[in-house]
Amino acid sequence: MTVMEAIQARYSVRKYTDRPIELEKIEKIMKAGRLAPTSSNQQLCKHIIVTDKELIHQMVSACEEQKWIETASAILVECASGDRMMICGQSARSMDCAIAMSYMTLEAVELGLQSCWLSWFSPDKVKVLLNIADDYVVVAVAPIGYPEKDGHRSDKKLTKEVVVYNKMK
Ligand SMILES: Cc1cc2nc3c(=O)[nH]c(=O)nc-3n(C[C@H](O)[C@H](O)[C@H](O)COP(=O)(O)O)c2cc1C
Repeated sequence: MTVMEAIQARYSVRKYTDRPIELEKIEKIMKAGRLAPTSSNQQLCKHIIVTDKELIHQMVSACEEQKWIETASAILVECASGDRMMICGQSARSMDCAIAMSYMTLEAVELGLQSCWLSWFSPDKVKVLLNIADDYVVVAVAPIGYPEKDGHRSDKKLTKEVVVYNKMK
């Protein structure tokens, strides 16, 4: 599968089978996060994968009672310490975590898995639940697993609506 094939095959899944994710696949997904680019190559992210059933169950209350996340065989959690504003005015921590999560969720697609990014979560509750060190901030969460049925991604805007060559106007 090419990168573009993985991008095209990705869609958000909110119901998974109970098939566990094989260890070799988990290792490949974590490697994708580890190899992602980071601002000034500082590599301040931790790539957490939650596979413990009880912890996954407890994550529901940390994720605004989104019950469906319990069907996932694993939950990816991206956190990082030591944020700083980059010269462009954006948070290095948020950007690094988002890039790593993108890499991991696309690698998951290559391996026959799907995921769903979450913004409905309490970073503080996730921190407590997973014993994440005080100086870390949880930036992104994504349940991951084998989809219960085939699906497709949501409609996307047309190229002409979102792509700009050179000046915007
Ligand atoms: C940053 C981000 C946060 C999201 N938060 C949630 C969420 O809390 N709950 C949920 O069910 N879906 C969430 N989604 C999934 C989006 O709803 C989904 O990506 C969007 O509808 C497009 O569908 P697609 O992923 O199938 O292309 C989130 C997606 C992103 C990128």
